[in-house]
Amino acid sequence: MTHQNIYKIKSSNKIHDSFILHFKKAFSSLNLIKKNFELDDLHHLLVDEKNLLQKGTDQSTVFHKAIYSTFDQPSFFKSEFWQNYRILSLEIVDKLKNETCYFGEWAIQRYPTIRFHFPKNISVFEFHRDSNYLHPIGEINCFYALNECNNSSALHVEKNLGFENYVPLNLKPGEYAILNTSIYKHGDFINKTRKTRVSMDFRFIPNSFLTNNVSSLTKKIKFTSDSYFINETEMKKLNH
Ligand SMILES: [Fe+2]
Repeated sequence: MTHQNIYKIKSSNKIHDSFILHFKKAFSSLNLIKKNFELDDLHHLLVDEKNLLQKGTDQSTVFHKAIYSTFDQPSFFKSEFWQNYRILSLEIVDKLKNETCYFGEWAIQRYPTIRFHFPKNISVFEFHRDSNYLHPIGEINCFYALNECNNSSALHVEKNLGFENYVPLNLKPGEYAILNTSIYKHGDFINKTRKTRVSMDFRFIPNSFLTNNVSSLTKKIKFTSDSYFINETEMKKLNH
């Protein structure tokens, strides 16, 4: 009655490998990376505590900047990362069409949001519903685990709507969950594992549900299909 069915699905090794490789390549530009470096150990590269996430900086560590800067490169839409993000997103759109019987055009978050959950730290600084930040209520979120999300290193989502009874969204590397974070409250607790959790989240909504005049409170970007989102047809065309 009050809890949502969260679908957990494993992506192909090809998709997962391409995401990992893209992250590792981007981090290699930081001159911090040792050979055979694993994402689990990312926190060992932090030079000092100031680089840990703090309220208001949870999207702006050196690691975030390294990844987000690749999205601005002219060759980004030819990258393996984009090609696999595109394939995965379009697969998810097909699943959502079957689930919802909404067979019109969908909009997909153009670039994923990247999360790092370091040991002894949190990744998102308050429990919230995405609709608190003006995300549309019908928006569906894909939470993709690049590496393991395990109990304290996992996103916590309320089990029953409005009850604030959080359960961890445990995922193995390469698995993803489809859920609604617009209405179900979610957030993080202190990561008590010894591993940095690295994940991406990206959102889906029927194009016709978008309005022109609503912007994200955090990113100052419009929730339209030519800004925060890209429409399904345009995404299909952006193939190298
Ligand atoms: Fe959120």
